[in-house]
Amino acid sequence: MQSELRKQLLDAFTTAGESYLSGQYLAELVGCSRTAVWKHIEELRKEGFELEAIRKKGYRIIKTPERVSADEIMLGLTTSFIGRNIHYEESVESTQKIAHKLASQGVPEGTVVIADEQRSGKGRMNRNWHSPKYTGIWMSLILKPNIPLTKAPQLTLLTAVAVVQAMEEITGLTPGIKWPNDILIDGKKVTGILTELQAEADRIHSIIIGVGINVNQKLEDFPLELQDKASSLSIQKGEQISRAELIRTIFKHFEKLYSLYLKQGFIPIKILWEGYAVSIGRILKARTLTEVIEGKALGITDEGVLKIEDQSGVIHHVYSADIEL
Ligand code: BTN
Repeated sequence: MQSELRKQLLDAFTTAGESYLSGQYLAELVGCSRTAVWKHIEELRKEGFELEAIRKKGYRIIKTPERVSADEIMLGLTTSFIGRNIHYEESVESTQKIAHKLASQGVPEGTVVIADEQRSGKGRMNRNWHSPKYTGIWMSLILKPNIPLTKAPQLTLLTAVAVVQAMEEITGLTPGIKWPNDILIDGKKVTGILTELQAEADRIHSIIIGVGINVNQKLEDFPLELQDKASSLSIQKGEQISRAELIRTIFKHFEKLYSLYLKQGFIPIKILWEGYAVSIGRILKARTLTEVIEGKALGITDEGVLKIEDQSGVIHHVYSADIEL
């Protein structure tokens, strides 16, 4: 994890924008020596940050590194608890696994595990999630809401809304959500969300929300069997997208929606979710672990459960399934 001092320095550079900050000012602000400030500045340089240093004026950041790091995400972060603790790894089996471990060690709510690469990323329904190095966002967010177990799926839907809002803001593209939480652009999957719980009887200890976003892959970076089903934001937009900026923007939207949810419940989130849904009102096939239901998607309940009306007029409540449109 980053040191508190490093976070405070990056917050100061965030607020300063284009202005210079003197070593003396920074040292007083964070309560350390000028030598300690200088040491942190040198470490940022080693990470690939470019800092301009002008005598009598001070420092300013003029370029951030290609590789995403906790420091780069922190620079420009406006949230108060989502993403304020970042656990960044270059290569992991799965960020979910690390997040589970951290959650049981009692890290603060809003802690996020992010990796440049996952060697065995996990998808829904026990599938693999292809997570090659540097091209995507592979992260797991730890939450500790005081809600009953049955409401946990609502947070998955909330996450999908936050990710879509951030994608719209950063890329100008218009993604849609396929229930429960696949994010599609032009009918192709760009994001998957996997929610896992640490709970007992009816009490949630932690919710681990895994988000996998295809950001800068080229078509040939996907395995052949995925090339007609999956896509990336850069394929759709025709240009490279800053992963750090997208991560920060997701945190911003997530924190806003999550605070709203804790105050007002699921209804305002449900309304937003429905605005992005591409599956509602359409005839579809839902493959659950035990059956296949075919019919018209009527909408979702206040719990986030999908309602499907089959040909004989029976309404099915679907809690978990793969949807074929
Ligand atoms: C899906 O099947 O659609 C869900 C995919 C979720 C992938 C993300 S990537 C970050 C986190 N770590 C994992 O191993 N899986 C999730």
